[in-house]
Amino acid sequence: MWARLCALTLLLAPASASYTLQDPTWDSSSSTFSASLSSSSASTNPYGDDFASLSFSLSVLTSETARIRITTPDAERYEIPESVTPSGPVTLPSSQPISIDDASFDFTYTSSPFTFKISDKSDPSVIVFELNEDFSFSDQYIKFSTSMNSESKLFGLGEKSRSNGAEVPPGSKTTMWARDMAAAVFDTNLYASHPFYVELSSDGSAHGSFLRNSNGLDVTYSESRDSLTFEALGGIVDLYTFVGPSPTDVAAQYQQIVGFPRLQPYWSLGFHQCRYGYENLQEAIDVVSGYKDASIPLDIAWLDIDYMNLWLDFTYDEANFPSSKVSAFVDELHSNGQKFVPIVDPGILAVDSSWDWAQGYDAYDKGMEMDVFVKDLNGEKPYMGQVWPGPVHFPDWFHPNATDYWTEQLKNWHDIAAFDGVWVDMNEVSNFCTGQVCENDSPDTCPTHQVDTQTQCCLSCVDVDQGNKFDNPKFMIGNDEGINGGGNPSPINFKTIPASAKHYGGLSQYDVHNLHGTMEAKVTSDAMEAIRDGKRSFVLSRSSFPGHGNHASHWTGDNAATWDDLKRSIVTVNDFAMFGISMVGADICGFIGDSWEELCARWIEVGAFHPFSRNHNTYGAAPQEFYRWDTVAEASRRALGMRYKILPFLYTLMYKANAGGDLVSRYLWQNFPQDAETHGIDEQFMLGDALLISPVLEEAARSVEAYFPQGTWYNIFDFSKVVQSEGEKVALNAELEEVNVHIRAGSIIAMQEGGLTTVESRGTDFSLLVALCGEGCTSFGELYLDDGESVQVEDSILADIVGSAGELAFSVTKTGTYEPENANLSSVKILGVDQPVGACEVNGSAVEFDYDNELKILTISLEGKARVDEDFELLWK
Ligand SMILES: *[C@@H]1O[C@H](CO)[C@@H](O)[C@H](O)[C@H]1NC(C)=O
Ligand SMILES: *[C@@H]1O[C@H](CO)[C@@H](O)[C@H](O)[C@H]1NC(C)=O
Ligand SMILES: *[C@@H]1O[C@H](CO)[C@@H](O)[C@H](O)[C@H]1NC(C)=O
Repeated sequence: MWARLCALTLLLAPASASYTLQDPTWDSSSSTFSASLSSSSASTNPYGDDFASLSFSLSVLTSETARIRITTPDAERYEIPESVTPSGPVTLPSSQPISIDDASFDFTYTSSPFTFKISDKSDPSVIVFELNEDFSFSDQYIKFSTSMNSESKLFGLGEKSRSNGAEVPPGSKTTMWARDMAAAVFDTNLYASHPFYVELSSDGSAHGSFLRNSNGLDVTYSESRDSLTFEALGGIVDLYTFVGPSPTDVAAQYQQIVGFPRLQPYWSLGFHQCRYGYENLQEAIDVVSGYKDASIPLDIAWLDIDYMNLWLDFTYDEANFPSSKVSAFVDELHSNGQKFVPIVDPGILAVDSSWDWAQGYDAYDKGMEMDVFVKDLNGEKPYMGQVWPGPVHFPDWFHPNATDYWTEQLKNWHDIAAFDGVWVDMNEVSNFCTGQVCENDSPDTCPTHQVDTQTQCCLSCVDVDQGNKFDNPKFMIGNDEGINGGGNPSPINFKTIPASAKHYGGLSQYDVHNLHGTMEAKVTSDAMEAIRDGKRSFVLSRSSFPGHGNHASHWTGDNAATWDDLKRSIVTVNDFAMFGISMVGADICGFIGDSWEELCARWIEVGAFHPFSRNHNTYGAAPQEFYRWDTVAEASRRALGMRYKILPFLYTLMYKANAGGDLVSRYLWQNFPQDAETHGIDEQFMLGDALLISPVLEEAARSVEAYFPQGTWYNIFDFSKVVQSEGEKVALNAELEEVNVHIRAGSIIAMQEGGLTTVESRGTDFSLLVALCGEGCTSFGELYLDDGESVQVEDSILADIVGSAGELAFSVTKTGTYEPENANLSSVKILGVDQPVGACEVNGSAVEFDYDNELKILTISLEGKARVDEDFELLWK
């Protein structure tokens, strides 16, 4: 309590001196406004002396995006490398600057005190960003605020499991400092930092901002919703504002800066099965057969750290997971059209000369020889921490040898068993010890090699430089705090690499801490593409940062088997889509704790419709593979069965995300911003703008109250179930094995016949599901196809599908010469055909059809008459 009061007193201290703007100039050739800022007198804030002079610039990056930079002309400051987080725009030509007159925003400022405002040109009452005079900029503390419209709602700012749903709650603080904390712990900082938000006004217009800063950061939303305050431990102000005006515009404008999500291999959209705690390889083999015997789709078998010899990266436990048998298992998977993904952790065992068992460990020997490990505060010795293997060193991704080192280790290991993707965990970085310098004084007992004791620090750690400015910044961010800043924060060094540790090029962990996961993921992704001959990489990473989606995917981390965790997974997945990581999902059935039949059934009904779909479970918890319970097996056959049918649609969405920042998994308000009822909904979600998933998230419920925006919605499992909504809640039945998924009238999706693997489903005939939307209304859809694995896609098909009363046009744009395994489009199902149909033709020749007078469904059989790689026109009357 005392600490809290004290912090409040500090905040109430006299406001720091404000700055005055001088020497403004507009450079029209770069469309940039520049000026200098000087502080009135020798000014201080509670955490340091403000810089006397600063440089200010505002550039018109695109018509909707401004970039504001405030830097120190007289002192070198840390900035995020372009290679980690692009500074954008990533696709627009930068050669043609847009003048402020042509931009869709206005920029105004006051000189003394210095403030500025960015507003929407089409409606100047809409303030996109407004920096007020409460602005401090000192070495280790930067503070600024923007005013917010108190009628608006705030979304984004991660990574956090938000107990109260999607909205960032008023009066709450979001701390950005990557740490190994279970997603099951709500309302505290987790694995990643994403300083991007969307402000959604009650009328449905939206705008947003992104602070390109990797230092420790608190973002506080005022209780009265009228301001948002940023407090950073370093770096610069590098702020991007996005004028919107729609929520999907804001997300796309943001991704235009940090990069669009990487196109994922087609197979990775299959279902993934994992667990921690397999005792031997046979258990994993049995699990794969268990899925097959139960006719539940399975594409990817995973192994967690169980397979490792004493938890050493790039090794196999030859007793329980003999490398020759793993290799044969992987070959067998491949021959069945399946894939294999193992885990890799960043900590490399620091081998003690007294350990016979670890002599000749190449990952350590090479790492030392190539000098690739993060150094301690003196910059000489590799920093020693502790993770699963025991004492470890951590690769320094800034080191020029790091890519070669990591690629060689992965390559040699890949030669043993040809894994298809890599899972990089513990990369916040997680450390079981805390301290500036640690040593292993008891190599006989450290590591313990026991799962129950290994997480306790067995190193001797000391802080040799107590007053080190990196380890002890005066301003304490809310690391480890609970909701609304409750509880005392932990120092930033707590259980990670200390902030004073040194990276290549003189960088301090203090500045680059939040980048570790994304940098590891990027190096791993590049390595995998090199090793696998230009095939698309699949890398799953726990930690992330803006720009991550360019390289890798993400899962929400260590959740728990609870109804609340299931609910929150929907929010985190949708948030990460906004953060530019399209491939995202949560551990299905829950990671921590024993899952149970009902929860697991309901969870696959959600997880089957998340882009990344994986069941994962922790050590010692009850088995939760879907075939273990009859109802869960049935729920998965239905939900995953549908997923495998809609893969062409899902892959097209992934392509659209990659091509221009479209969102794959979405909140309802992102599609229906004008419908204010949707603004508070976060227990349903959409795939693109076509499918609405309304899952059951409560024990014992056999129905769900689902909100339907105005329009007609057809249940895609059972077309007899139709919802006509004026924008209302509808009670839907939902037996345990049943999930409600509706297609919106006005959309068209491409499907195939499904299968037990993605290879199988890709070989089946295509079909179209067309949901008409009445007189004078047009339905739209797209279909993108390529070989599903090339990095540089040279051959692809993109079809535009347009349907209205009586006709459907399918027009294909071909790039190169892609020929699908099976291009046959064998049927088209059209929902909402009001009149009986007497004739049907494709390209002028009659085709067979069936009209269901009761359900108003026209099913057209096109056997041999249409292909997905050729234009055609379909008419019915
Ligand atoms: C890179 O590794 C080589 C050994 O392979 C070593 O000689 C060289 O010093 C390393 N480079 C740096 C910058 O440490
Ligand atoms: C596609 O359809 C044609 C005509 O019905 C048929 O001959 C061919 O075998 C089909 N192709 C595949 C891959 O099923
Ligand atoms: C349908 O007609 C279009 C244009 O006339 C033609 O390009 C296309 O190949 C035809 N498609 C089929 C399946 O016959």
